[in-house]
Amino acid sequence: MPTLTVKRLQTIPAELTVPGDKSISHRSAMFAGLADGTTVIDGFLPSEDCLCTVHAMAALGATVTPIHEEPGVGLVKMAITGTAGHLTAPASPVDCGNSGTTMRLLSGILAGQPFTTTLFGDASLSKRPMKRIADPLGLMGITITGQGEKICAPITIHGGPVQPIDYTLPVASAQVKSAVLLAGLFAPGTTSVIEPVATRNHTERIMAHFGIDCQREGTRISVQGGQIPKATDILVPGDISSAAFWLVAIASQPAASLRLNNVGLNPTRTGILTVLERMGARITLSDVREHGEPCGTVTIAGTTLQGTTIGGSEIPNVIDELPILAVAAALAQGKTLIKDAAELRVKETDRIAAVAANLRLMGVTVTEFDDGMEITGGAKLHGATIPTFHDHRIAMAFAIAGLFADGETLIEGAECIRTSYPNFEQHLAQFQ
Ligand code: S3P
Repeated sequence: MPTLTVKRLQTIPAELTVPGDKSISHRSAMFAGLADGTTVIDGFLPSEDCLCTVHAMAALGATVTPIHEEPGVGLVKMAITGTAGHLTAPASPVDCGNSGTTMRLLSGILAGQPFTTTLFGDASLSKRPMKRIADPLGLMGITITGQGEKICAPITIHGGPVQPIDYTLPVASAQVKSAVLLAGLFAPGTTSVIEPVATRNHTERIMAHFGIDCQREGTRISVQGGQIPKATDILVPGDISSAAFWLVAIASQPAASLRLNNVGLNPTRTGILTVLERMGARITLSDVREHGEPCGTVTIAGTTLQGTTIGGSEIPNVIDELPILAVAAALAQGKTLIKDAAELRVKETDRIAAVAANLRLMGVTVTEFDDGMEITGGAKLHGATIPTFHDHRIAMAFAIAGLFADGETLIEGAECIRTSYPNFEQHLAQFQ
């Protein structure tokens, strides 16, 4: 699907089930690959990003056995027999595709291995800063070399003995936190990460699930080195970041409603629900349960949305949802301010520039700032040809905008959607 054509919304399905959570799928493959024994992962997200992690763990010595392929989605259930903490050197450089999570978290694991590994990625990943993990892993005694000042991919991790550190995150990043904690598993003693602003805590939760002692005291997260994860089955909930597209599609329409099944409800990820409620949408949760991670049914009822301000400590909780929240802002009455979100500039593309440019193409007034943007809601959207800059969330956010535009909206380079949502197009068709 090089170009995806989106027409104005025609119908609304009663319910949807989004595929598995991307962050948890990556971590489940990594911990299963490190563990002692065999882990069955169900609900896995077989998107290009997460499959990169599976292939990487296989290249590093884990054994992957497919169990179930879901039509139109891919391999959702597999067994991974781990390496009991002792990975083997890969035969060739490891491809991380478009995935920052694969490259950054894997670097933490590889720091503790007695061999050297090179990781590479696509054009977008090769522009993203790896210095943010090279710095703390350097403090742990490991050299990571890469391209230029930002230490971009390809990067080479010279693994070896790692020392424990106490590290205060200079940016609110779960990927950096996770890389340090993963390296800490191989260090003698206690490694601590202090996060001044809370970020998603899937690594801490999955460590506990695999029997690893990982403690949080206030803003400090500590892990004891020398622990080997114990294999244990995992049920990955649906991805709230994927559900976000349909939540926004419904939120702005008075009298519309939709039920989303099996959505991950980890409180470090549910900021999208808080923001949409603040804008006026009515959201109810039901059938909430927990299997390592909380999940449940999310029902949303639409309304005339009102603009809001999104910033401060809320940002890490909605970081991946800001492109689609910007679309919600365009559909709302009044102005919305997104601030403190400079991290958006170092995602799969510069998401501040991309969102502002594409909203303008559709007729919206946007003022861009270094760390965010102000969006004036309520304009009549018109269809346009939308560049996606190889960024899956830009592609999907503007496909949703297209549901509310006059004429056709053409999403260019829509194949990037497979990075995180293999059956997005089939779900979108249920609104056309
Ligand atoms: C992720 C953390 C976030 C997020 C990314 C996934 C993770 O990145 O944007 O999509 O799985 O840890 P940062 O840690 O760079 O904020």
